[in-house]
Amino acid sequence: MMRIDIISVLPDLLHSPFQHSILKRAHDKGLLEVHVHDLRAYGLGKYKQIDDYQFGGGAGMVMMIEPIVNCIDDLRAARTYDDIIYMTPDGERLAQPLANRLSLQQNLLILCGHYKGIDERLREHVITREISIGDYVLSGGELAAAVLVDAIGRLLPGVLNDETSALFDSFQDGLLAPPVYTRPAEYQGWKVPDILLSGNTAKIEDWRYNMALQRTRERRPDLLDEE
Ligand code: ADE
Repeated sequence: MMRIDIISVLPDLLHSPFQHSILKRAHDKGLLEVHVHDLRAYGLGKYKQIDDYQFGGGAGMVMMIEPIVNCIDDLRAARTYDDIIYMTPDGERLAQPLANRLSLQQNLLILCGHYKGIDERLREHVITREISIGDYVLSGGELAAAVLVDAIGRLLPGVLNDETSALFDSFQDGLLAPPVYTRPAEYQGWKVPDILLSGNTAKIEDWRYNMALQRTRERRPDLLDEE
């Protein structure tokens, strides 16, 4: 059983994504547990303050050290985390190999940022890994965390019905996935490639591999350059 804890100032934003589809199945099968924690509960003083003006001036609030450390310490008292991840656009770009590696862990803690971000000292002393889901800025780390948890959760053994299917995803073999078809074999003159109806498994495998290669060459030649 993998456990993922998420610290957020907008926990409601995170409840829905994990209650549907594959992540729900992962949870129902006892393979993945996701717990969302409201950082506000660790806010300071009467107003449960979690952010403050930045030293040196400038617009935008910065998330303070204490609420975050207090929250993390509470969670750490119960278990050891393999990684304490901060979602941030200047982190390591998420790609399939990183999702694969993280899916092998037991306990992950994910911190979602807001405003201008978190006090840099947290990144130096507490955070062990920083992840970006792409070169664009979201209004907070929650949606990025949901993307990360989805990418990890579907890789856990037993989550997908057909255990092999994640192996054939785009990117798993460094290639984009080949095209797929289903019934009807012909729709108003649009035909499924004959080879897929031939029953010749070896030829179909060949065709799929070649289509994957062709598609990758056309759309993502950078994937072929990497190795
Ligand atoms: N927070 C804001 N933008 C983000 C991004 N692109 N990736 C991860 N976390 C973020």
